Amino acid sequence: MANESEVLSQSNLEFEAPASIAEHAHINAVNYEKLYQESIANPEEFWSKIATEEIHWFKKWDKVLEWNYPQYKWFSGGLLNITYNCLDRHVENGKANTTAYIYTNEEGKEERISYLELLEKVNRFANALKGMGVVKGDRVTIYMPLTIEQIVAILACARIGAIHSVVYAGFSAAALRLRIEDAQSKVVVCSAYTKRRGKILPLKSVVDEAVDGLVYVEKIIIHQREQKFELVEKEVDYYDFIYHQSTHLEAEPMEAETPLYILYTSGTTGKPKGVLHTVGGYNVYTHYTTKIAFDLKPDDIFWCTADTGWVTGHSYIVYGPLSNGLTSVIFEGAPDFPDPGIWWSLIEKYRVTKFYTAPTAVRLFMKMGEKWPNQYDLSSLKILGSVGEPINPEAWLWYYKYIGREKCAIIDTWWQTETGGHMVLSLPACKQKPGKAGRPFFGIELDVVNKQGESLGPNTVGLLVIKKPWPSALRTCYGEPERFEKYWNEMPGFYFAGDLATKDEDGFIMILGRADDVLNVSGHRIGTAEVESALVSSNSVAEAAVIGKPHEVKGQSIKAFIILRQGVMSSENLIQTIKHHVRNELGAIGVPDEIEIVNSLPKTRSGKIMRRVLKAKELGTDIGDVSTLED
Ligand code: PRX
Repeated sequence: MANESEVLSQSNLEFEAPASIAEHAHINAVNYEKLYQESIANPEEFWSKIATEEIHWFKKWDKVLEWNYPQYKWFSGGLLNITYNCLDRHVENGKANTTAYIYTNEEGKEERISYLELLEKVNRFANALKGMGVVKGDRVTIYMPLTIEQIVAILACARIGAIHSVVYAGFSAAALRLRIEDAQSKVVVCSAYTKRRGKILPLKSVVDEAVDGLVYVEKIIIHQREQKFELVEKEVDYYDFIYHQSTHLEAEPMEAETPLYILYTSGTTGKPKGVLHTVGGYNVYTHYTTKIAFDLKPDDIFWCTADTGWVTGHSYIVYGPLSNGLTSVIFEGAPDFPDPGIWWSLIEKYRVTKFYTAPTAVRLFMKMGEKWPNQYDLSSLKILGSVGEPINPEAWLWYYKYIGREKCAIIDTWWQTETGGHMVLSLPACKQKPGKAGRPFFGIELDVVNKQGESLGPNTVGLLVIKKPWPSALRTCYGEPERFEKYWNEMPGFYFAGDLATKDEDGFIMILGRADDVLNVSGHRIGTAEVESALVSSNSVAEAAVIGKPHEVKGQSIKAFIILRQGVMSSENLIQTIKHHVRNELGAIGVPDEIEIVNSLPKTRSGKIMRRVLKAKELGTDIGDVSTLED
């Protein structure tokens, strides 16, 4: 978590929205206030209007919202197909030849796919899935880098109502297996490899290990790229799989609450939770937030630099942009290869107008210096988005000056895997306050409260809560309804986001970090318990405790304290072996930057590790109340 007093003192800066944006924006400062109040006074009416105006329904819903605390349904009885909204309707409305995606990679390869071509490819994949017996509700795990083939696989599932579970292609075999097992996936779609910084990173071999012995996995579909494998048993080549299939498949009307996808995310226990989203509310909300947050205009070129393995990719590379008929750039590669100018060169080349990235990337570029962006023409840019962690005022100002050239709006967007879309944001035509995420989106009634749920005064640190369900809120945690209920039961009456925040006199929310044991490393969410269980599964570690430390570029870095098993001798080699073990268990994002061997760990009398004490000691801050400490 950020140092509170430091953050508070830095964040009194204010910027007016660029006049060029404010003049023609869908939402400006005046209509934001009015519309926000209306949306809060009657969220059902508000969302009903948006859903009618923005989304195609085969049949209108019976009820906008049914809320039986803590369960909720949106647009029930309504029939739609999210891929119809993302593809067919654009093809039918004169955008058949509009580019949906411009794919490029670190070798400068370029592929463009139009809305019509994308629809046809999706239909072929969907027909092939149907042909092998995949039906509505079946789970399909997708383990691929950001490619057109991956997006086709995602949309093909959605077309027929199969639930996709995309697993970030940096996760290890053990982490992938856990997710396949949890979802009991019938099909796994993977790529042979991805390339990063000139190196081939094999993915198919990870899948081989992950699915070993899983009898319910009926097929493994492999995008072989330039590699050719001897395919065995259940394996089939991606293009052979779809080759003979028809490019036509009627979009099947689906009830609004039909599950769309599962996306695993970290919580406070070792096992990740499978956040489940459904088609109707998610389509409406991601469509509308994309349109408003990025103030979409017909000639926009959009680039969200996230990976499709995370929720940002789901909502703002796939569903939100496609539902709006946007043209998006997608880039498979690292941000600093072949050199730290690669992103800026792509913005110049494709004339990107709306750009969306994470603070960790901004800080990385800041470190490498403005000489990189300065070499490129970035004049096409209009709106610069930020997501994943708090953007510190210093990074905000750098982004504003060197990327936005003081002409762009910076929009911070606070949200979560569970929320499906933006919850708090700085709208591009409204006042901007560096370091503060902004104000709530339409229909989102939220507050900063103390542990008793009482609303706190301005600029007081408390817990961020949301008072009512919104259309793209998670519907459950797959197979673990009790974990879903926890979101609404921890602070009775509210959805508890898990974040610490303040609210200022203007209603601007500043996010200070997590209130729980969840870390945010380079914008990636990882549970301390996940890292700890990976550590103790190594045969040399008896106990482990993990904390997050402030890090200049990554936001947080991971430090682990471990107690060795009896008879194990400490050595530098041992630390490397343990790190390697965590990499195998979780993937690179879970590997601690530092591991310290200790003789004991601070615990409560009931045996719970007091990470807070370790953290205070490590950072030299006040240890606070230790009356429950055992020793
Ligand atoms: O702590 C908040 C932080 O990321 C968490 C959600 O992580 P995840 O589900 O992986 O989704 C990340 C992308 C939406 C939040 O609980 N977070 C996300 N965006 C911001 C943020 N913290 C501060 N400012 C943000 N803009």
